[in-house]
Amino acid sequence: MNMAFEHVDYTSLSVPAAPFSDPSIIPSFPKGKVPRHVGVIMDGNGRWAQQRGLIRTEGHQAAEPVVFDVIAGAIEAGVRYLSLYTFSTENWKRSPQEVRFLMGFSRDIIHRRVAQMDQWGVRVRWAGRRPRLWKSVMDELETAMERTKHNTTIDVVFCINYGGRTELADAMAGIAREVRDGQISGDRVTKKMVAQHLYNPDIPDCDLLIRTSGERRTSNFLPWQAAYAELDFAPELFPDYGRVPLWRSIDHYTGRDRRFGAIK
Ligand code: IPE
Ligand code: IPE
Ligand code: MG
Repeated sequence: MNMAFEHVDYTSLSVPAAPFSDPSIIPSFPKGKVPRHVGVIMDGNGRWAQQRGLIRTEGHQAAEPVVFDVIAGAIEAGVRYLSLYTFSTENWKRSPQEVRFLMGFSRDIIHRRVAQMDQWGVRVRWAGRRPRLWKSVMDELETAMERTKHNTTIDVVFCINYGGRTELADAMAGIAREVRDGQISGDRVTKKMVAQHLYNPDIPDCDLLIRTSGERRTSNFLPWQAAYAELDFAPELFPDYGRVPLWRSIDHYTGRDRRFGAIK
Protein backbone atom coordinates (compact mmCIF):
# COMPACT_ATOMS: atom_id res chain seq x y z
CA MET A 1 0.00 0.00 0.00
CA ASN A 2 1.32 3.37 -1.00
CA MET A 3 4.81 1.94 -1.50
CA ALA A 4 6.08 4.85 -3.53
CA PHE A 5 6.14 6.97 -0.40
CA GLU A 6 7.29 4.42 2.15
CA HIS A 7 10.77 5.93 2.00
CA VAL A 8 9.56 9.41 2.83
CA ASP A 9 11.45 10.92 5.69
CA TYR A 10 8.92 13.00 7.53
CA THR A 11 11.09 15.94 8.38
CA SER A 12 8.16 17.88 9.73
CA LEU A 13 7.43 15.87 12.84
CA SER A 14 8.13 18.81 15.12
CA VAL A 15 5.40 19.35 17.64
CA PRO A 16 4.28 22.97 17.81
CA ALA A 17 4.07 24.47 21.27
CA ALA A 18 0.98 23.23 23.09
CA PRO A 19 -1.79 25.76 23.62
CA PHE A 20 -1.08 28.22 26.45
CA SER A 21 2.57 27.19 26.86
CA ASP A 22 3.44 30.89 26.52
CA PRO A 23 0.33 32.85 27.54
CA SER A 24 2.26 36.15 27.43
CA ILE A 25 2.22 36.18 23.61
CA ILE A 26 -1.51 35.57 23.21
CA PRO A 27 -3.32 38.79 22.30
CA SER A 28 -6.45 39.63 24.28
CA PHE A 29 -9.24 40.07 21.77
CA PRO A 30 -12.26 42.24 22.62
CA LYS A 31 -14.76 40.21 24.61
CA GLY A 32 -17.39 38.46 22.53
CA LYS A 33 -15.64 39.46 19.29
CA VAL A 34 -13.69 36.28 18.54
CA PRO A 35 -15.17 34.39 15.55
CA ARG A 36 -16.91 31.25 16.70
CA HIS A 37 -16.23 29.33 13.49
CA VAL A 38 -13.09 29.95 11.41
CA GLY A 39 -12.47 28.28 8.04
CA VAL A 40 -8.97 28.10 6.57
CA ILE A 41 -8.14 27.40 2.92
CA MET A 42 -4.61 26.14 3.45
CA ASP A 43 -3.08 27.15 0.12
CA GLY A 44 0.42 27.63 -1.23
CA ASN A 45 2.32 24.47 -0.27
CA GLY A 46 3.37 23.76 -3.85
CA ARG A 47 4.68 27.28 -4.45
CA TRP A 48 6.52 27.22 -1.12
CA ALA A 49 8.33 24.05 -2.25
CA GLN A 50 9.01 25.34 -5.77
CA GLN A 51 10.59 28.51 -4.40
CA ARG A 52 13.09 26.30 -2.56
CA GLY A 53 13.81 23.93 -5.43
CA LEU A 54 11.88 21.17 -3.66
CA ILE A 55 9.15 18.94 -5.01
CA ARG A 56 5.51 19.84 -4.34
CA THR A 57 4.97 17.08 -1.81
CA GLU A 58 7.74 18.51 0.36
CA GLY A 59 5.62 21.63 0.61
CA HIS A 60 2.75 19.54 1.96
CA GLN A 61 5.13 18.00 4.50
CA ALA A 62 6.26 21.45 5.59
CA ALA A 63 2.60 22.30 6.21
CA GLU A 64 2.08 19.64 8.85
CA PRO A 65 3.48 21.46 11.91
CA VAL A 66 1.76 24.63 10.70
CA VAL A 67 -1.63 22.92 10.77
CA PHE A 68 -1.08 22.12 14.44
CA ASP A 69 0.29 25.56 15.22
CA VAL A 70 -2.91 27.00 13.73
CA ILE A 71 -5.03 24.62 15.82
CA ALA A 72 -3.13 25.67 18.96
CA GLY A 73 -3.53 29.34 18.07
CA ALA A 74 -7.25 28.91 17.46
CA ILE A 75 -7.63 27.26 20.88
CA GLU A 76 -5.69 30.11 22.50
CA ALA A 77 -7.84 32.72 20.80
CA GLY A 78 -11.04 31.00 21.91
CA VAL A 79 -12.27 29.83 18.49
CA ARG A 80 -14.83 27.04 18.96
CA TYR A 81 -14.96 25.51 15.44
CA LEU A 82 -12.10 25.33 12.95
CA SER A 83 -12.69 23.99 9.43
CA LEU A 84 -9.51 23.08 7.55
CA TYR A 85 -9.69 22.65 3.78
CA THR A 86 -7.36 19.68 3.35
CA PHE A 87 -8.38 18.06 0.04
CA SER A 88 -11.07 19.30 -2.31
CA THR A 89 -13.26 17.30 -4.67
CA GLU A 90 -11.36 19.16 -7.42
CA ASN A 91 -7.93 18.08 -6.16
CA TRP A 92 -8.41 14.65 -7.81
CA LYS A 93 -7.39 16.47 -11.01
CA ARG A 94 -3.78 16.61 -9.79
CA SER A 95 -1.17 14.05 -10.79
CA PRO A 96 -1.79 10.52 -9.46
CA GLN A 97 1.47 10.81 -7.50
CA GLU A 98 0.37 13.97 -5.70
CA VAL A 99 -3.12 12.62 -5.04
CA ARG A 100 -1.61 9.44 -3.62
CA PHE A 101 0.73 11.43 -1.46
CA LEU A 102 -2.04 13.67 -0.11
CA MET A 103 -4.28 10.72 0.74
CA GLY A 104 -1.49 8.76 2.45
CA PHE A 105 -0.19 11.84 4.23
CA SER A 106 -3.67 12.78 5.56
CA ARG A 107 -4.11 9.25 6.85
CA ASP A 108 -0.68 9.28 8.54
CA ILE A 109 -1.13 12.71 10.09
CA ILE A 110 -4.43 11.78 11.67
CA HIS A 111 -2.88 8.58 12.98
CA ARG A 112 0.27 10.20 14.36
CA ARG A 113 -1.39 13.29 15.81
CA VAL A 114 -4.60 11.97 17.33
CA ALA A 115 -3.10 11.58 20.82
CA GLN A 116 -1.82 15.16 20.72
CA MET A 117 -5.18 16.47 19.55
CA ASP A 118 -6.96 14.46 22.24
CA GLN A 119 -4.64 15.94 24.85
CA TRP A 120 -5.42 19.45 23.60
CA GLY A 121 -9.16 18.83 23.93
CA VAL A 122 -9.78 18.70 20.18
CA ARG A 123 -12.86 16.96 18.89
CA VAL A 124 -11.84 15.60 15.49
CA ARG A 125 -14.49 15.81 12.79
CA TRP A 126 -14.69 15.33 9.05
CA ALA A 127 -16.65 16.94 6.24
CA GLY A 128 -16.68 15.50 2.76
CA ARG A 129 -17.92 12.84 0.48
CA ARG A 130 -17.31 9.16 1.05
CA PRO A 131 -16.97 7.81 -2.53
CA ARG A 132 -13.35 7.93 -3.81
CA LEU A 133 -11.93 8.83 -0.39
CA TRP A 134 -9.39 6.18 0.58
CA LYS A 135 -10.82 3.68 3.03
CA SER A 136 -7.66 3.93 5.14
CA VAL A 137 -8.22 7.69 5.49
CA MET A 138 -11.83 7.11 6.49
CA ASP A 139 -10.78 4.45 9.00
CA GLU A 140 -8.29 6.80 10.69
CA LEU A 141 -10.88 9.57 10.74
CA GLU A 142 -13.45 7.27 12.31
CA THR A 143 -10.99 6.09 14.96
CA ALA A 144 -10.02 9.71 15.75
CA MET A 145 -13.63 10.91 15.81
CA GLU A 146 -14.62 8.11 18.18
CA ARG A 147 -11.65 8.68 20.48
CA THR A 148 -12.20 12.43 20.76
CA LYS A 149 -15.99 12.65 20.62
CA HIS A 150 -16.36 13.97 24.19
CA ASN A 151 -13.77 16.76 23.83
CA THR A 152 -15.17 20.27 24.02
CA THR A 153 -12.27 22.71 23.68
CA ILE A 154 -12.53 23.02 19.90
CA ASP A 155 -14.05 21.05 17.01
CA VAL A 156 -11.52 20.70 14.20
CA VAL A 157 -13.21 19.70 10.96
CA PHE A 158 -10.87 18.08 8.43
CA CYS A 159 -12.48 18.79 5.07
CA ILE A 160 -11.15 15.88 3.01
CA ASN A 161 -12.74 15.12 -0.34
CA TYR A 162 -14.89 18.15 0.42
CA GLY A 163 -16.60 20.29 -2.20
CA GLY A 164 -19.22 22.89 -1.38
CA ARG A 165 -21.37 22.26 -4.41
CA THR A 166 -21.21 18.53 -3.79
CA GLU A 167 -22.29 19.11 -0.19
CA LEU A 168 -25.27 21.13 -1.42
CA ALA A 169 -26.13 18.51 -4.07
CA ASP A 170 -25.99 15.80 -1.37
CA ALA A 171 -28.23 17.91 0.87
CA MET A 172 -30.71 18.38 -1.98
CA ALA A 173 -30.71 14.63 -2.66
CA GLY A 174 -31.50 14.03 1.01
CA ILE A 175 -34.38 16.49 0.87
CA ALA A 176 -35.65 14.95 -2.38
CA ARG A 177 -35.76 11.53 -0.70
CA GLU A 178 -37.85 12.93 2.14
CA VAL A 179 -40.21 14.60 -0.32
CA ARG A 180 -40.52 11.32 -2.22
CA ASP A 181 -41.28 9.46 1.03
CA GLY A 182 -43.93 12.02 1.90
CA GLN A 183 -42.07 13.27 5.01
CA ILE A 184 -42.05 16.85 3.74
CA SER A 185 -43.83 18.70 0.98
CA GLY A 186 -41.76 19.81 -2.02
CA ASP A 187 -42.93 23.39 -1.79
CA ARG A 188 -42.04 23.64 1.87
CA VAL A 189 -38.26 23.46 1.49
CA THR A 190 -36.71 26.06 3.77
CA LYS A 191 -33.22 27.40 4.47
CA LYS A 192 -33.36 25.60 7.80
CA MET A 193 -34.05 22.28 6.06
CA VAL A 194 -31.09 22.75 3.73
CA ALA A 195 -28.87 23.58 6.72
CA GLN A 196 -30.09 20.43 8.48
CA HIS A 197 -28.98 18.28 5.55
CA LEU A 198 -25.38 19.51 5.41
CA TYR A 199 -22.57 17.13 6.43
CA ASN A 200 -22.38 18.51 10.00
CA PRO A 201 -25.70 20.22 10.67
CA ASP A 202 -24.81 21.10 14.27
CA ILE A 203 -21.86 23.31 13.26
CA PRO A 204 -22.77 27.01 13.08
CA ASP A 205 -22.11 29.30 10.12
CA CYS A 206 -18.54 30.22 9.31
CA ASP A 207 -17.76 33.72 10.67
CA LEU A 208 -14.26 34.19 9.29
CA LEU A 209 -12.92 32.57 6.13
CA ILE A 210 -9.16 32.81 5.67
CA ARG A 211 -7.20 31.91 2.55
CA THR A 212 -3.44 31.89 2.59
CA SER A 213 -1.06 32.40 -0.35
CA GLY A 214 -2.61 35.64 -1.61
CA GLU A 215 -5.16 34.00 -3.91
CA ARG A 216 -8.48 35.77 -3.65
CA ARG A 217 -11.06 33.09 -4.28
CA THR A 218 -12.91 30.57 -2.18
CA SER A 219 -12.49 27.50 -4.46
CA ASN A 220 -15.75 25.76 -3.53
CA PHE A 221 -15.21 25.93 0.25
CA LEU A 222 -18.27 26.25 2.54
CA PRO A 223 -20.52 28.19 0.09
CA TRP A 224 -23.55 27.78 2.34
CA GLN A 225 -21.91 28.21 5.73
CA ALA A 226 -19.72 31.14 4.66
CA ALA A 227 -22.38 33.05 2.74
CA TYR A 228 -22.02 35.90 5.26
CA ALA A 229 -18.47 35.24 6.43
CA GLU A 230 -15.87 37.96 6.66
CA LEU A 231 -12.99 37.17 4.31
CA ASP A 232 -9.29 37.51 5.08
CA PHE A 233 -6.69 36.88 2.40
CA ALA A 234 -3.34 36.29 4.06
CA PRO A 235 -0.23 36.84 1.93
CA GLU A 236 1.81 33.98 3.43
CA LEU A 237 2.10 30.65 1.67
CA PHE A 238 0.59 28.12 4.08
CA PRO A 239 3.92 26.68 5.34
CA ASP A 240 4.78 30.25 6.44
CA TYR A 241 1.44 30.75 8.17
CA GLY A 242 0.88 29.84 11.84
CA ARG A 243 -0.70 30.99 15.06
CA VAL A 244 0.64 34.55 14.94
CA PRO A 245 -0.69 35.25 11.41
CA LEU A 246 -3.95 33.57 12.48
CA TRP A 247 -4.25 36.07 15.34
CA ARG A 248 -3.64 38.86 12.85
CA SER A 249 -6.51 37.50 10.71
CA ILE A 250 -8.72 37.35 13.82
CA ASP A 251 -7.66 40.87 14.73
CA HIS A 252 -8.76 42.09 11.28
CA TYR A 253 -12.07 40.34 11.87
CA THR A 254 -12.69 41.96 15.25
CA GLY A 255 -12.56 45.37 13.56
CA ARG A 256 -15.23 44.52 10.99
CA ASP A 257 -18.76 45.80 11.17
CA ARG A 258 -21.05 42.85 10.48
CA ARG A 259 -24.42 44.18 9.45
CA PHE A 260 -26.12 41.14 7.84
CA GLY A 261 -28.12 43.46 5.62
CA ALA A 262 -29.48 45.60 8.41
CA ILE A 263 -28.64 49.22 9.19
CA LYS A 264 -27.11 49.94 12.54
C1 IPE B 1 -2.62 23.65 -0.78
O1 IPE B 1 -1.42 23.91 -1.43
C2 IPE B 1 -2.75 22.22 -0.38
C3 IPE B 1 -3.76 21.46 -1.13
C4 IPE B 1 -4.56 21.93 -2.05
C5 IPE B 1 -3.87 20.06 -0.80
P1 IPE B 1 -1.29 23.72 -3.01
O2 IPE B 1 -0.85 22.32 -3.25
O3 IPE B 1 -2.55 24.11 -3.69
O4 IPE B 1 -0.13 24.73 -3.33
P2 IPE B 1 -0.06 25.74 -4.55
O5 IPE B 1 -1.32 26.53 -4.53
O6 IPE B 1 0.10 24.93 -5.78
O7 IPE B 1 1.14 26.57 -4.25
C1 IPE C 1 -8.05 24.86 -2.44
O1 IPE C 1 -6.78 25.06 -2.98
C2 IPE C 1 -8.15 23.47 -1.87
C3 IPE C 1 -7.40 23.23 -0.64
C4 IPE C 1 -6.68 24.08 0.00
C5 IPE C 1 -7.54 21.89 -0.10
P1 IPE C 1 -6.46 24.78 -4.51
O2 IPE C 1 -5.05 25.14 -4.70
O3 IPE C 1 -6.85 23.40 -4.86
O4 IPE C 1 -7.45 25.78 -5.26
P2 IPE C 1 -7.33 26.49 -6.66
O5 IPE C 1 -7.04 25.40 -7.67
O6 IPE C 1 -6.23 27.48 -6.58
O7 IPE C 1 -8.65 27.14 -6.86
MG1 MG D 1 -3.25 25.85 -4.45
